[in-house]
Amino acid sequence: MSSKYSSVKGMHDLLPPAIDTWHYLEKIAHETMARYGYAELRTPIVEDTDLFKRSVGETSEIVGKEMYNFLDKGSRDIAMRPEGTAPAARAYLEHSLHQKEPVTRWYYLGQMFRYERMKTGRTRQFWQLGVEVYGPPQAAQDAEVMELAVHFIERLGLTDVRLEINSLGDETTRPAYLEKLKAHFAPHADKMSEDAKSTLALNPIRLLDSKEEALKDLIAQAPVMLDVLDDASKAHFDEVQRLLTLLGVPFTINPRLVRGLDYYTRTAFELIARSDKLGTASTVGGGGRYDRLIEQLGGPKIPAVGWAMGLDRLVICLGEKGAAEGPVLFILPMDAAARDEALKLATKLRHDGLRVDIDARAGSMQAQFKRAEHVKAQHVLVLGARELSERKAKLKRLSDRVEKEVSLDELSAHLTQPS
Ligand code: HAM
Repeated sequence: MSSKYSSVKGMHDLLPPAIDTWHYLEKIAHETMARYGYAELRTPIVEDTDLFKRSVGETSEIVGKEMYNFLDKGSRDIAMRPEGTAPAARAYLEHSLHQKEPVTRWYYLGQMFRYERMKTGRTRQFWQLGVEVYGPPQAAQDAEVMELAVHFIERLGLTDVRLEINSLGDETTRPAYLEKLKAHFAPHADKMSEDAKSTLALNPIRLLDSKEEALKDLIAQAPVMLDVLDDASKAHFDEVQRLLTLLGVPFTINPRLVRGLDYYTRTAFELIARSDKLGTASTVGGGGRYDRLIEQLGGPKIPAVGWAMGLDRLVICLGEKGAAEGPVLFILPMDAAARDEALKLATKLRHDGLRVDIDARAGSMQAQFKRAEHVKAQHVLVLGARELSERKAKLKRLSDRVEKEVSLDELSAHLTQPS
């Protein structure tokens, strides 16, 4: 009988054996971050809603339409985090990291929540791996985080992923560019949906990301930021490209790349995977520089750069990977008396560091064998009165059914020796 409850729409359980792919991915994530000198940050899953309004932006889809926010019992407006950059920046300021060290390098791994329209690779609870670096304004830092992202993906064994980069300029060029965009789109406002009209008024740069069919040609003809970059942003962008080339990281420039979050300045980038499993090409990661955010949140002027990747999408691309190994030994007691001894033996072997399984039901031999095969045990050992009194039993390797008699007191040594 199935329960009348199911998980909340857009939020999924992660069950064995699929969880093995997650463990594989998480292991490579932690290892890679250690190699590159990033320390892990864990922030709460909820924050003040206002934090996301001030950082991600009130006109963004994420804040405008997709937030899981609610009033708590103290009437505080709380949001389940839709992303990790704003919480990390909040933690950075709250713990005064800028006074403790000139450079902070963090990574995080955790669930995010967005009330999205769902499709393959887009859910309402999803996981991100992200990095954030505070301190260096240099293009070398942008290049380092991008190389890290590409290397992580390569280590996972994914090959068909492309890095696209762009520059979104900074506060000196942005206002003039926004005016140009308004002038370009405004005469066609009558063709626009109400949503697009309000985007035009509030944040026209986001129109470049619109999927509205009526705007397709207009978007293709729209002026691009790269043509109006100020000298400093242009030099920064050139340097990013030079360094990516130096590090052997292939990239393409996409002058129409705009991100769905408001805090970016200068470098913006995305990682796009081609995978049959994801359907069409899909963005597995994105990030960029955000030199104004720390100041906007009430802190000093500290430049920063980072990215986040959608782990659910990477797991879909990976398929089955890194299947967990079954137990080295499955013990089969012949009756209830032997079950107690089997349990004791299993406990001892586990304390010795071996992976050992046992079926507490101690049912028929046939049922126990079936269970041993189901959990992919490498060996089985049948325990009955005779085996216990002689302290000897037959150890059977399931791969080739070869048996050898071993002393129960020397089992650990037998199982740890390569056969
Ligand atoms: P984002 O582009 O909004 O950036 O998200 C990063 C990645 O998270 C996306 O490329 C995608 O793979 C994944 N993702 C986003 N929404 C969903 C969803 N509904 N279902 C599944 N996966 C999803 C950020 O979040 C920025 N905080 C990145 C950043 C860090 N920028 C600077 N530092």
